[in-house]
Order: sequence, then C-alpha cells, then structure tokens
Amino acid sequence: MYDIIATSAFGVESVTARELKNLGYEDVRVFSGGAEFKGSAIDIARANIWLRTADRVLLKLTEFRADTFEQLFEGVRTVPWTDILPEDAFVHVTGSCVRSVLHSVPACQAIAKKAILEKLKEKYAREVFSEAGAEYRINISLLKDIVTVTMDTSGRGLHKRGYRRLAGAAPLKETLACAMLLLSYWKDGRTLVDPFCGSGTIPIEAAMIASNRAPGMKRGFAAENWGFIDSAAWPEARREAADKFDENAYTDICGSDIDSSALQLAALHAEDAGVDAMVRFSCRDFKTLRSDKQYGFIITNPPYGQRLDSSAEMYREMGRVFSKLDTWSYYVICDSPDFEKLFGRKADKRRKLYNGGIECQYYQFFGPKPPKNRDGN
Ligand SMILES: C[S@@+](CC[C@H](N)C(=O)[O-])C[C@H]1O[C@@H](n2cnc3c(N)ncnc32)[C@H](O)[C@@H]1O
Repeated sequence: MYDIIATSAFGVESVTARELKNLGYEDVRVFSGGAEFKGSAIDIARANIWLRTADRVLLKLTEFRADTFEQLFEGVRTVPWTDILPEDAFVHVTGSCVRSVLHSVPACQAIAKKAILEKLKEKYAREVFSEAGAEYRINISLLKDIVTVTMDTSGRGLHKRGYRRLAGAAPLKETLACAMLLLSYWKDGRTLVDPFCGSGTIPIEAAMIASNRAPGMKRGFAAENWGFIDSAAWPEARREAADKFDENAYTDICGSDIDSSALQLAALHAEDAGVDAMVRFSCRDFKTLRSDKQYGFIITNPPYGQRLDSSAEMYREMGRVFSKLDTWSYYVICDSPDFEKLFGRKADKRRKLYNGGIECQYYQFFGPKPPKNRDGN
C-alpha cells in the first residue's frame, strides 16, 4: 500500500476529499493543500484519471523531523531509492520551506539530491549518472521542521485534460471550474447556463461530470513510465473509465459569450473532450439571457480585473438580468469585494478561491428548491 496525496488549490481541499470518498476511499485525511489516502498501483492510476479538482497526485515516500542538514540527509536516505529509481533516472528535486529552521530551498534541494545519488552510487558502483531516462520529480517540503518527501505521479498538472488546444482570453483552470460545479447544488440533468463561457471550460467540465467522463482519460501520466509501479494498472483504470462514460447522458448545458472567436474554441474543445453532443454554445450578450425553464443554474466567471466603472455597470446589469430568473440559483466567481452591493443581493454563501493567483470570492445565491415529484425526488 502507498500513502497517496492529491494536492489541490486553497479552498478546494474538501471538494477533492469528497471526490476521493465518492471514488470509494474511506480513510481520507484533509489538510491544507490537499487530501491523503492509502492505495495500491491501481489507485494511483484511478486518482490521476478520475480526480476533477486535484492539481497532482503524489506518492508520499517518507516524513520526518529535521532541523539540521545532517538530519535532512539521513532522513532522505531512509527511502529505498534503489527500488524506486532506475540507473538512468532523471532525478528532478523541487522544494519548499515554510516556518522551518532549514529555510534555504536551494540548499535543501541540493542536500536531498545528494542523499538520493549517494544511495544510487552504492548500488550501481559509479560516480556519474546519465539521467537520460524517465523523469522522477521529487519534492522536499519542510513545514515547521517536518520534512515530507513526495514523488509526483502526474507529470503535467491534472488541469491539463488534453482537450484545450488553444487558450482563450483569461480561461479558467479546468480544476477550478470543476470545484465551482461541485461546490454548487447543480446536478446532472438540471439546467445549467454559463453566460460568459469564453472557451467553454465550465460547460465542458459540467458535461464531463454529467456523462461520468473521466477527466484524465485522454492524457498520459509520469508514473506510467516508472518500473516499480505495476504498468497494468494504467490500461485497467482507463478501461474502467471508458466503461463508465455514458455517451447518451441527458444534459441541459448551455454556454454563451459575446465573443464568437472564443465560442469557436469552445466548440473545438467540447469536441476534443468528447462531450460536444452534450453542450450547446451560442453567441449572445448576457443582457439578452432569458429562459422559460424553472430551477436552473447559472455558474459563471464574468470578466474582471478590468476598468472599475465598466465592471461596476456590468455587475449591476447582471443583478437585473439574473433576478428575472427568479427560481434559479446563481454562482459567480469574481475578485470584486463590492460584487454583492453592485449585483443587488447578498450572497447566501461565499468562499474564498484563487483564480490564477487572484484572490476571488465564489458568491453563491440559492434559488428555491424544486417541488418534489411523486417519487419523492
Ligand atoms: C473571464 S472570461 C471567461 C473565461 C471562461 N470561463 C473560460 O474558461 O474560457 C469572461 C468572458 O466574458 C465575455 N463577455 C464580456 N462581455 C460580455 C457580454 N456583455 N456578454 C456576454 N459575454 C461577455 C468575454 O468575451 C469573455 O470570454
């Protein structure tokens, strides 16, 4: 069994933990920056392929206290590196030091790499290594003198699903779009509209959720090239994911935007993501948004960071337009602390989230619950 960490952005950790529980992992520990659980090779593959809100999946190799370089060196040496790393491994050490006696990141990285190479030298009886093989990204993180040594099984960040060929203006990270969806009360089958959809991230991720399409189905992962992890785990996890994809899922998901070139991208991305039949895109100004449907959801990322007066007028107008959909719920990510005042309603709930390093609030305005049908649903 491995100790596995799914890292996620500030404010998103509990959503990632919920995803892990829904995948069947019972013993999930949430901490600032992610969630930890135990699993085998197939679980590393499943976590990488299925997690929608995690940034990376790491293997935790060891954890120990160190306030001297000797302790750091000896602690790193305790990992069975020669079982993990082949002779030609490209060892890339990254690091972070927070509130610790050892505070120089480059020095800690160098000590850790030295400890790893010492172990390899003992086994392979040589001084120099080609490092021409698969990449192993090892992270040495010090927090209050506790060293956690991890290895990144994902490679490229998990927000890179493999469908975004070209980025539109200010696209939302796929993982953040999913966090917004999973933090809302939206469920597959319910009406969802993103009136500022840009390159389509929110509608596409929603369609992937609705059709149970694994976000990592179309990409590769660093650990697929690692000899010590059972390589059969990856095709098995991909087969499972392909079986679970419901290409005929019923969805009612629309994205619209005023920019037709962004919408062309959105359509391309939806096709690449395999969900083009499940989303509709249209070119329109959000001011023309109307719907006869009841109990729908708006989940959106309007423009921000632009001139204050133009944002202010837009947020006021959003308030007027959205309030006409009086049975709907609205969810808006925005960096303006004045958003509620301008929008004209106090949010029922808000949560701090970061969008590309910008501190934002996720404003949540709940509509009434739909009446129960005869089955009580
Ligand atoms: C922050 S971006 C949204 C990015 C999107 N979430 C993505 O992942 O690509 C804001 C979008 O609002 C659109 N927009 C600006 N004014 C608009 C208006 N009056 N009506 C509809 N869309 C508008 C812009 O074209 C831009 O695509």
